[in-house]
Order: sequence, then structure tokens, then C-alpha cells
Amino acid sequence: MSLSPNKASKNTAEPAVTEPVTLKTLKAMTHRKEAFACLACYDATTARWLERAGVPVLLAGDSAAQVVLGFERTIDMPLDFAIQMTAAVKRGAPRTLVMADMPFMSYHRSVDDAMGNAGRFMTEGMADVVKLEADESQAGIVDRLTRAGVPVCAHVGCRPQTSSVTGGPMAAGRTSESLEQVVRDASALQDAGAVLLLIEAVPDEVTRRVMEIAKVPVIGIGAGTACDGQILVVNDLIGLTDFPPRFAEPVASVGNNIFESGRQWVQNVSNRTIGGKRYLMRAGESEKLGTGSQESATR
Ligand code: KIV
Repeated sequence: MSLSPNKASKNTAEPAVTEPVTLKTLKAMTHRKEAFACLACYDATTARWLERAGVPVLLAGDSAAQVVLGFERTIDMPLDFAIQMTAAVKRGAPRTLVMADMPFMSYHRSVDDAMGNAGRFMTEGMADVVKLEADESQAGIVDRLTRAGVPVCAHVGCRPQTSSVTGGPMAAGRTSESLEQVVRDASALQDAGAVLLLIEAVPDEVTRRVMEIAKVPVIGIGAGTACDGQILVVNDLIGLTDFPPRFAEPVASVGNNIFESGRQWVQNVSNRTIGGKRYLMRAGESEKLGTGSQESATR
């Protein structure tokens, strides 16, 4: 197993992301009306390939609780694991803007707690931005983090960390009242200093209204095409998810590749045709062994 984050392998082109991506880069793209791509990913190897592909923003998402750790809900994401995962993504994609997803209850108990945990994501996790699911009542936390130098992406609309209250993840803004609430949340959080907004699972009407008031780049997921950037979970994009959400259209079938590779390996092992190169003893060393051992060494 080898991991060489900064080197393009011999079968790939040079990395597409050459200059470090910053908030300035995203603002400039937004200004030029160039939509930017983002993906949630969870490990250094995948991050390395996505940076080479030119994806400018990666989110070390709390969806890892489900797709990596096998939990049913994102609220089961462990804090220490989230921090380590963020650092792994940044090590794999050092020039990419990496967002850390703050897990459930890591920013709710008190502002001090939120500050301490966000600080860990910025230092141990090497995050460029922290994302938190929030409504207007949490504007105070965004304000304090921003003043302390922590760039915040405010995640509004459908907020999976509140699923236990709502009875499951569900679209937001499907009534005029709910639409107004999402717009109020986005407005209050950007006024508190959020440098990015992320809006999840809302009808186009909501996105349009948020885009009208937005002064910062808006990233959408299941929020139509009007947003400045678009994000998906990488597993949904590459065909690893059995039942992807309605807004995610896979562009590859990596799940099938894994399945076929697994089957092939089972076959190869059973046929004793495992391929690859074997280790050889150094010149003259095998002659020092008895015949029996020589046979076993070359078998
Ligand atoms: O954790 C996650 O995957 C997210 C999505 C919005 C991409 O928060």
C-alpha cells in the first residue's frame, strides 16, 4: 500500500488544482458566475484523486458516520474521528479548500465548547473552513467563531443532525412559512459572519430567494442549479451507494468494479494465480540453503 499525496502517478495527468484554493478563489469564481464543484469525501487517497481531477472544495462530512462507519445517523459521528478524517483529507489534497463538518453536539453545549472544538478542527484537523448546521438562533456562535478567526460555512435548509426531532431527514422550505424560515436562517447566519452558505434539499423557490439575499457563495445539495457551487457525497457520485438520494445521479459504477474485483480475487486465490512479483533471495544466498529449503524458497 503506498500513499504519495503530492505526486501524480504515472498514469495520470498533472494535478489540475495547482494553486491553493482559498475563499478568494471561490468568491472570484462566483463573481465570474463560474459554478464550482465540491464533494464530501473521507480519506486521503480519494482526496488525492479528487484534487488531481480539479475539484476545488472537499468536505470531510459527518455523512462519514453512515458511509464509513456504518451508523444509521450522522449524529453518531465521533468528534476525534472527524478531526482525524479532516486532517487525512487535507493531507491527501493539500491545495484544495477543505471544510470540516462539525459533528452533532460539538458546537451546541456552549460557545466555549464550540470555540474549543472549532479550534481543534482548524489546528489538528488542518481545516480551511468549518461547517455547522444552524438556524438563526445559532447566529451568536457563528459571530464568536468568526471574530476568533474561524471561517464558518452555515448549513441551512434540511439539517440531518436535527432528524431525530423532525422524524427523519426531509426537504425544507416546502411551505411558504418554512421557505421564509430558511431565508431568515441564511440571512442571520451570513450577517453573523458566515463566509459560505450551504443549502440542502429545498425547492428551487427557496434557492432563488436565498440567492437574492446572499452576499457570500452559496453551495447547494438537492437545491437546484441556481447555487454558486454544488456538492454531493462522493460515494453517491461514483456509484457506491445502494439507494442514493433523489438528487444524486451517479456518473460511475465503482461499486460494481469493487464487486467484480472481489470476485476475481476469490477466483485467482483459488486458482493460485495471484499475479504480482515475488521476493527473491539476494544473489548467492539461496545456495547456502539445503536443497529442501531451496525448493520451498522457489516454490
Ligand atoms: O456530511 C455531508 O455529507 C454533508 C452534505 C451536505 C454533503 O453535510
